[in-house]
Amino acid sequence: MNDLKHPDNLVLKQFVMPDELNYNGTLFGGQLLSWIDQAGAVVAISRSRSKVALLKMNEVLFKKPIMPSDSVTIYGKVTTVGRTSMEVTMEIWRTNIFDENEEILAATASGTYVAIDENLKPQRVDRK
Ligand SMILES: CC(C)(COP(=O)(O)OP(=O)(O)OC[C@H]1O[C@@H](n2cnc3c(N)ncnc32)[C@H](O)[C@@H]1OP(=O)(O)O)[C@@H](O)C(=O)NCCC(=O)NCCS
Repeated sequence: MNDLKHPDNLVLKQFVMPDELNYNGTLFGGQLLSWIDQAGAVVAISRSRSKVALLKMNEVLFKKPIMPSDSVTIYGKVTTVGRTSMEVTMEIWRTNIFDENEEILAATASGTYVAIDENLKPQRVDRK
């Protein structure tokens, strides 16, 4: 996977709240999936300048647990553009809020978003 960790690709930054933890005391995977979906949509909307719908989560790898003392930063960019679809590749980094030098790649993800019109039907994405 490409190294996406660059300010140009920063999409979303979140603190972990107590009600977002699972029974292990780490971030609940469903919460992270929600942030990944939102971040991917932001990237796809910015590229297509239209509404988008998530068609497919292609891959999500939860490599490291995210702790209550971490912030979560999602970097993403469009890596493939089809006629109506876009693949967005993302990296999810965890950072210790008390020591910003302690940054770890916690997860990677990729999702396919489809540009849609006002009737929620696929519409063409302009080629740049
Ligand atoms: C996303 C959606 C608008 C696409 O509509 P559709 O009629 O299924 O789409 P089409 O068959 O016209 O295909 C659109 C694009 O998706 C791609 N696609 C469709 N099915 C696919 C599949 N199973 N795998 C990979 N790509 C697929 C097509 O290749 C096409 O890409 P391209 O134009 O870049 O070549 C529709 O499926 C939808 O509304 N899904 C629900 C979205 C949603 O609610 N997401 C939130 C999850 S809860």
